Amino acid sequence: MKFSFLSLAAALLLPVTLAAGSTTDNTTGLLVGTARVDITPYPNPHWLPLDEFAHEKLHVRAIVYENNDVRGAFVNCELAFIQDGIYKTANKLVAEALNTSLANVLVSITHAHSAGPAGVTNANQYGNAAVRNYSSLGLAAVEAATLALGNLKPAKVGYNTGEAFFNVNRDALDPLTGRWTQAANLSGPVDRAVQVLTFLGRDDNAPIASYTSYGMHPVNSYLSGFTTGDWPAAMMRWIETSMSVNDTFVAIFSQQASGDVNPLLRRAGTNNLASISSVPITGFELVQECVEEPVRDGYTPFVRPDDHYIRQLFRELEAQGVMMGEIVMQIMSQTTDFDDSPTIWAAQETVSCPGRKRLDSAREGVAGVYTTGPNFNVTTGAVGLGDVVLVTVGGEIFTRIGWRIKNETAGLMHKTMIVTMVNGQPSGYIPDSLSFDQETFQVLGTSLMPGTCAEISITNSLVSMVNQYKATLA
Ligand SMILES: *[C@@H]1O[C@H](CO)[C@@H](O)[C@H](O)[C@H]1NC(C)=O
Ligand SMILES: *[C@@H]1O[C@H](CO)[C@@H](O)[C@H](O)[C@H]1NC(C)=O
Ligand SMILES: *[C@@H]1O[C@H](CO)[C@@H](O)[C@H](O)[C@H]1NC(C)=O
Ligand SMILES: *[C@@H]1O[C@H](CO)[C@@H](O)[C@H](O)[C@H]1NC(C)=O
Ligand SMILES: *[C@@H]1O[C@H](CO)[C@@H](O)[C@H](O)[C@H]1NC(C)=O
Ligand SMILES: *[C@@H]1O[C@H](CO)[C@@H](O)[C@H](O)[C@H]1NC(C)=O
Ligand SMILES: *[C@@H]1O[C@H](CO)[C@@H](O)[C@H](O)[C@H]1NC(C)=O
Repeated sequence: MKFSFLSLAAALLLPVTLAAGSTTDNTTGLLVGTARVDITPYPNPHWLPLDEFAHEKLHVRAIVYENNDVRGAFVNCELAFIQDGIYKTANKLVAEALNTSLANVLVSITHAHSAGPAGVTNANQYGNAAVRNYSSLGLAAVEAATLALGNLKPAKVGYNTGEAFFNVNRDALDPLTGRWTQAANLSGPVDRAVQVLTFLGRDDNAPIASYTSYGMHPVNSYLSGFTTGDWPAAMMRWIETSMSVNDTFVAIFSQQASGDVNPLLRRAGTNNLASISSVPITGFELVQECVEEPVRDGYTPFVRPDDHYIRQLFRELEAQGVMMGEIVMQIMSQTTDFDDSPTIWAAQETVSCPGRKRLDSAREGVAGVYTTGPNFNVTTGAVGLGDVVLVTVGGEIFTRIGWRIKNETAGLMHKTMIVTMVNGQPSGYIPDSLSFDQETFQVLGTSLMPGTCAEISITNSLVSMVNQYKATLA
């Protein structure tokens, strides 16, 4: 209990009525509301869904919270990718609808690589215009946030962390060619931390919502041709249906540092892709680039994969999501420290670093050719919720940048949660300086000039905002 109800009520001249047997006052303290709206693309008649798995549906979810007239929202979209301007528009529309500042609204995506229409290779464009029955993603986000605002209830928030060993560094030297490729690198940097905010009813402890971050690209469904929210969708639906029988709980997933991080297990996804690209299927895990390139670069007709392989992939996504969900619910179960009247605070900045422009198009394993380009801009932010602070980066940072942020903020505030792909997205990945000499597709494709600018400026910006928040708590 970090607030005094009586002194606040006195300051606001509220009539104070304490009903016998009830300690709940619904006008002060943390209030939280949630909602989930469906944005699943209408089915492609030439490429019908299996309609067998929870992760075949896509949503926009919102958790709206307020205390002492300060309001904020976590909005999350099950989309493969959205452009910078789409984040910014959704952020602005939700902030207007909630009558709060841009910084108080975090719009993120799950980054599920097949979260778009079926039967197309550019599913990642879904969300850049209309989604389902909404004429823009921003309007779907506004609907979710407005519905959430409509069911605010007295709540408390807690934070806890754990670990999950489903992810792996994905930048490896191919033993045959000696060149960099996308494959599991068991000795490369990877962060196993799972960070979870839990929202419960203030007096009844009824589960209301969770907000989880973990670094792991949802790529096993990439180019599968089917609509799926991949393992994050399976995870969120598993938590939601586990925590509430009437399906009112809302579980959100956002990426942590994931630019160089994939699922450890990719067998079913590579076999499914092979069934599209006519590469012989061995049953064993296949090298990603060999099965992905013909489909991605259009060397083979884009055909519906064999149901046998898509069903195996979908079962694998379901299994990964269920196990991640169980880890999240264990972390929630072990959360002990809750705050029913957290200070709510937010700030947002933009950091800018030298950019470059790519003059060739080699995918990986060879040097790229560049000229100077416009500055590379990254949206950073911090949201304070009592003794927890969420530090946010609009982009796909590499693991070592996440570690650097953790190292430099943990000494300031112990409970620091990292959320990425929030409120903006520059053109390309944000590798740490040590990873820049690896000729991976992420490094070759980014429009960030190599060097330490991004990791230092992003970290400094976050540290400065955390310090500002600390000062308001003092
Ligand atoms: C969009 O569709 C969903 C169901 O898929 C429905 O609940 C919602 O009301 C619709 N919204 C609009 C704006 O039509
Ligand atoms: C919006 O918030 C401001 C304070 O930030 C308040 O003065 C104003 O009344 C609010 N407007 C609405 C429509 O709630
Ligand atoms: C506060 O809201 C809860 C529902 O969230 C309700 O059960 C309770 O009666 C309300 N208390 C007061 C004092 O209005
Ligand atoms: C894994 O990555 C590290 C650098 O992060 C590199 O030194 C090492 O060679 C890689 N290992 C393999 C097997 O690719
Ligand atoms: C759903 O169940 C939760 C408890 O699990 C309860 O707090 C909530 O009021 C219920 N909501 C509806 C709409 O029935
Ligand atoms: C980054 O911001 C600067 C300053 O606002 C602008 O000149 C530049 O064009 C931006 N870069 C990109 C890629 O939009
Ligand atoms: C973070 O700190 C740990 C231990 O203090 C150190 O081993 C690691 O190199 C640091 N990492 C970064 C990216 O600063």
